[in-house]
Amino acid sequence: MKTAITEMFGIEHPIIQGGMHYVGFAEMAAAVSNAGGLGIITGLTQKTPQDLANEIARCKDMTDKPFGVNITILPTLTPPDYPGIVKAVIEGGVKVVETAGRNPSELLPPLKDAGIKVIHKCTSVRHSLKAQAIGCDAVSVDGFECGGHPGEDDVPNFILLPRAADELEIPFVSSGGMADGRSLVASLAMGAQGMNMGTRFIATKEAPVHENVKQAIVAASELDTRLVMRPLRNTERVLNNAGVERLLEKEKELGDALTIQDILPEVAGVYPSIMQEGDMDKGAWSCGMVAGLINDIPTCQELIDGIMSDAEAILARMNGMQAA
Ligand SMILES: Cc1cc2nc3c(=O)[nH]c(=O)nc-3n(C[C@H](O)[C@H](O)[C@H](O)COP(=O)(O)O)c2cc1C
Repeated sequence: MKTAITEMFGIEHPIIQGGMHYVGFAEMAAAVSNAGGLGIITGLTQKTPQDLANEIARCKDMTDKPFGVNITILPTLTPPDYPGIVKAVIEGGVKVVETAGRNPSELLPPLKDAGIKVIHKCTSVRHSLKAQAIGCDAVSVDGFECGGHPGEDDVPNFILLPRAADELEIPFVSSGGMADGRSLVASLAMGAQGMNMGTRFIATKEAPVHENVKQAIVAASELDTRLVMRPLRNTERVLNNAGVERLLEKEKELGDALTIQDILPEVAGVYPSIMQEGDMDKGAWSCGMVAGLINDIPTCQELIDGIMSDAEAILARMNGMQAA
């Protein structure tokens, strides 16, 4: 399938694997890219720019297809070494960067000078327009369903995507709640040029996470995610577990008095224990409502091939409806 996104990123299928903390290692990105999508290494999971440079080199050893790096811009007091991260990306010869979080304008000049395409992940039309205005090449429009940070507007993709299509001039992909051929065709129908998936890619054979994480996603229904940190205006959609229930109890007890300090045990530094050791009740980890649509653990190739053949069958069926 050829769309503005496959052309822009030099990929076979309009399917992107969004950056995911402690999931987006070289193994994940290479598996998605080798299957014809765009795999993405998560920049901030690497402790230093040198570690990121090594991870990019490892990915290059595993694929000769294009892959990207996610740079999440966090509202922290002691920011990561963003110039160092950008340098590692440029020197590593990476061709695509997915930015997320805050406005990426400060990172854009060096990335653009190096000919790198930038796709910014946004949860609203106004942020998408801002990304377009500052010179991003594409946008990933992340609806309320998404795993991770859906923002504070709570607009689901059936509204958000057509709204984005009505306003944007640059291409965009859908993100949040995407799982299969139906998601892809629906995204295209609503004006997207492809789709981005997070949670779905964790439940694949190659995802470098503990088996417990994959099984938790397969076992979960669409009712099993929770929104945490809403009182801090840093809302995150996570899979429910004992740690999340503890966290929500604190949010309820403390109300407006809640600070990040109160919930540090449930949110700070929990990803390695969850993703690598499979300690599922350790705390909050991002997961989308789309878990309800995930019932298997295929290879990335099986997943992407299945999505593309289902999408083609749906399009043919719809064509038939028109002819009838
Ligand atoms: C476990 C997990 C970790 C994530 N970490 C990040 C991250 O570090 N940076 C980022 O920009 N997005 C992150 N995301 C969001 C994904 O890139 C993607 O936008 C989101 O998962 C899409 O929604 P879906 O899960 O319904 O497919 C994460 C998502 C998950 C599930």
